[in-house]
Amino acid sequence: MNLYQENHDLLAICKLAPVIPVLLVDETANAVPLAQALIAGGLRVIEVTLRTENAFDVIEVMAANTTEGIIGAGTLLSKEDVYAAKRAGASFGVSPGVTDQILSACAEVKLPLLPGAATPSEVMNLLSKGYSVQKFFPAQSNGGIAALKSIQGPMPDVSFCPTGGVTSTNALDYLSLENVVCVGGSWVAPKDKIKAADWQAITKLARHASALRKHSET
Ligand code: 3PG
Repeated sequence: MNLYQENHDLLAICKLAPVIPVLLVDETANAVPLAQALIAGGLRVIEVTLRTENAFDVIEVMAANTTEGIIGAGTLLSKEDVYAAKRAGASFGVSPGVTDQILSACAEVKLPLLPGAATPSEVMNLLSKGYSVQKFFPAQSNGGIAALKSIQGPMPDVSFCPTGGVTSTNALDYLSLENVVCVGGSWVAPKDKIKAADWQAITKLARHASALRKHSET
């Protein structure tokens, strides 16, 4: 099987900002102003989840209209999702877990993938296929910081993007771990602020998030 990850690309993307906003965008008209608000606050790498019917439209307009943004497709659950994400112009994909179908499809269309893992076996399985950057999901309910510290001992070569339950309160603690390259979270783009088109508030949240740095970088 032709499994594939542009590890260097993915790692480089993950290093662009400490936080990847995880977005649910119901209205396609909000896509560009939302992305611009996040980018203005210093968050260039954006994950659009496929949890809304218009998600691929959102990815398409964001990717086409925000030159500084690196727009990814989240919630990849099938090879069809991968193909559609690529067609929409996504620069990377994120999956909550992985299947061989998803890995193969990403390899086929050359979509850098941040694949999800939650257990040592899943981490090892992905690492054996060359995926050294992984999404730790669901982070907080899966042992959070303590679990990531425990995983680092035996598997120091894996870098994680913990997502799920990461907030402005605990993000810095996650980022201080040696095996955490960035975190993902929805707190920087709350549903009510998107609905109200309160882009200034989202820029402020993004600015705060982008100022979070790994301890080793401060
Ligand atoms: C999700 O499942 O939507 C992402 O992991 C984000 O989780 P969060 O809403 O807890 O940040």
